Amino acid sequence: MNKQRIPIIAGNWKMNKTSIEARDLATKLVPLVANVKDREVVLAPAFTALQTVGQAIRGTNIALAAQNLFWEEKGAYTGEISAEMLLDLGCRYVIIGHSERRQFFGDNDDTVNKKTRQALRKGLSPIVCVGETLAEREADKLNDVINRQVAGGLKDISTEDMKKLVIAYEPVWAIGTGKTATPEQANEVHALIRQRVKSLFNAEIAGGLRIQYGGSVTPDNVASLMAMSDIDGALVGGASLKPESFAALVKFT
Ligand code: PGA
Repeated sequence: MNKQRIPIIAGNWKMNKTSIEARDLATKLVPLVANVKDREVVLAPAFTALQTVGQAIRGTNIALAAQNLFWEEKGAYTGEISAEMLLDLGCRYVIIGHSERRQFFGDNDDTVNKKTRQALRKGLSPIVCVGETLAEREADKLNDVINRQVAGGLKDISTEDMKKLVIAYEPVWAIGTGKTATPEQANEVHALIRQRVKSLFNAEIAGGLRIQYGGSVTPDNVASLMAMSDIDGALVGGASLKPESFAALVKFT
């Protein structure tokens, strides 16, 4: 954590919760985090629950995020969701290129870049996910993979737009597995990402960029992760599905 960057804790609910279940979860969370002032709290429910969750958190200190978007404005793209549709439901953030999308739905650096640029064009803040698989780490390809994902995902983005963007580092081997990267392991990659952003943009952009860690973050390990110099937040899956555990996580000290 670094004083110049406001921590950002986001709950990624993935393909969980109906619209009513999601509304109930958000409604329980609101009072639990109402007094949190020095950090940003974000919820990313499924598309079908954006409306009910948006209503439950309206006027609170919690911001709404989507888990994906499509890069075209509108038209014959069956099954897709546009930036305008997300804005209409009150989204401020959108998660882009989560490893599950890269693994199961064909997202790659090129489509991540198109989605990121569309989000920014429309005034949504992208949370761009990067991260290596276990096989890549073991084959010593960590640096190459991260450098490629960062450069590819952020291609042709202006320095002005970079101020609205968040990166989430999520080692694929740590997602939903209970295996967290150690704070030192995570911080090393965060520093690498920041260095890459510095070389692609400039020191000011790199210094202001918020980089979340994701992968089995819990109320028990969040503080040690957030104590690291280059970790500015968390993208949380499993532990965000219970109001008490997500609230505890948000309130790390
Ligand atoms: P997890 O998921 O916290 O359940 O590991 C994190 C993520 O995929 O964003």
